[in-house]
Amino acid sequence: MRTTPATAVPPDALARRFSAVRALSTALVAPLSDADATLQSMDDASPAKWHLAHTTWFFETFVLRDHVPGYRLFDARWPFLFNSYYEAEGQRHARPRRGMLSRPALDEVQAYRAAVDAAICDALPTLSSDALALIELGCQHEQQHQELLLTDILHHFSVNPLEPAMWPGAAKVPVAMPGPIGWIEGRIGEVSVGIDAADGFAFDCEGPRHTALLHLHTLADRTITNGEWAAFIADGGYAEPRHWLSDGWAWVQANRIAAPLYWAEIDGVWTRFGLDGRRPIDPAAPVTHVSFFEADAYASWAGARLPTEFEWEAAAAGADPLGGNQLDAAGPVEPRPSAGGPAWFGDVWEWTGSAYRPYPGFRTAEGAVGEYNGKFMSGQFVLRGGSCATPRGHVRASYRNFFYPHQRWQFTGVRLAKDL
Ligand SMILES: [Fe+2]
Repeated sequence: MRTTPATAVPPDALARRFSAVRALSTALVAPLSDADATLQSMDDASPAKWHLAHTTWFFETFVLRDHVPGYRLFDARWPFLFNSYYEAEGQRHARPRRGMLSRPALDEVQAYRAAVDAAICDALPTLSSDALALIELGCQHEQQHQELLLTDILHHFSVNPLEPAMWPGAAKVPVAMPGPIGWIEGRIGEVSVGIDAADGFAFDCEGPRHTALLHLHTLADRTITNGEWAAFIADGGYAEPRHWLSDGWAWVQANRIAAPLYWAEIDGVWTRFGLDGRRPIDPAAPVTHVSFFEADAYASWAGARLPTEFEWEAAAAGADPLGGNQLDAAGPVEPRPSAGGPAWFGDVWEWTGSAYRPYPGFRTAEGAVGEYNGKFMSGQFVLRGGSCATPRGHVRASYRNFFYPHQRWQFTGVRLAKDL
């Protein structure tokens, strides 16, 4: 794992960052009861309580246990519960059964968080540079889980017929439909992609920096809207096999897919379920909760294709990764209509047509943290740009998210590309 050189982040600045990241997780679960925080609606989605405890386990294991002499585990039984997938850390509770963990209770998990937070803050001034780098990694890891916590609780609530709102939102102000897609000519020839160790924090899968060859192409200046997606549905997009990859068509048939996840047609009006409850779709807002299969089918229907991850990265390289609609604080999150101009970051993760595979020269790090990314490089596709649920400051142009092609409970959307 490559992280910011520890000397680049003074311990007091790292302590403030650590506290801020930890506080946001606590704020995100404030509306949840213990019962809410224990729900697990599907194997892919974890209980909120588990996210709170697992991110704490990460700091306790890789920083306190491994770098603080004499540290005693908060509860020696809990690593079995809260290890996610680290084989090097031994046996663990089965992922699909995380929702069975009514104990420890939410307040016990909060006490675990408080104890580990205090131990980290006590130890921080004396920690080695390796341990400080692991704290930064733990913060980045917790930010990833903050997004998952939100998308998971949305799924948990979606299977309750009452469809509870995590945060009842304010009334929406109608926004004018964005104009037709503008097309941006992409960079061609040899371009430098990926990130190097000296560039600051990056996950290992973002490097090494290397050269990619881009051919003549254009990229859409915005993502596809709900209104445009409704037109795809009305045109029979989900009923016409020629738009679909074979695996995608099989998925549509087997699961009777006819609209994005959380959409429902009520009295002739398309609605969607979000963290603010069920509302009519905003035709001007970016479509979200679509799978790679759906994104690819839409692009085919529209006479286009998905961008490659390097076409996207080359185009977004000069854009501000702190811009756009991203997560700043606890409260309703949803994609918003574009304010105009090309926007590369926030709102929805954008499916690319690129397989999630190692870059030339990629090496898995030694030890348990080497399991962070590399072992997942099979059968998944890359998404770029972050979403409305991504903590601001977490993504950058080289950032590679990845999911299986049928998955759609994240805030995932579509940007089109075309060959010239
Ligand atoms: Fe994790």
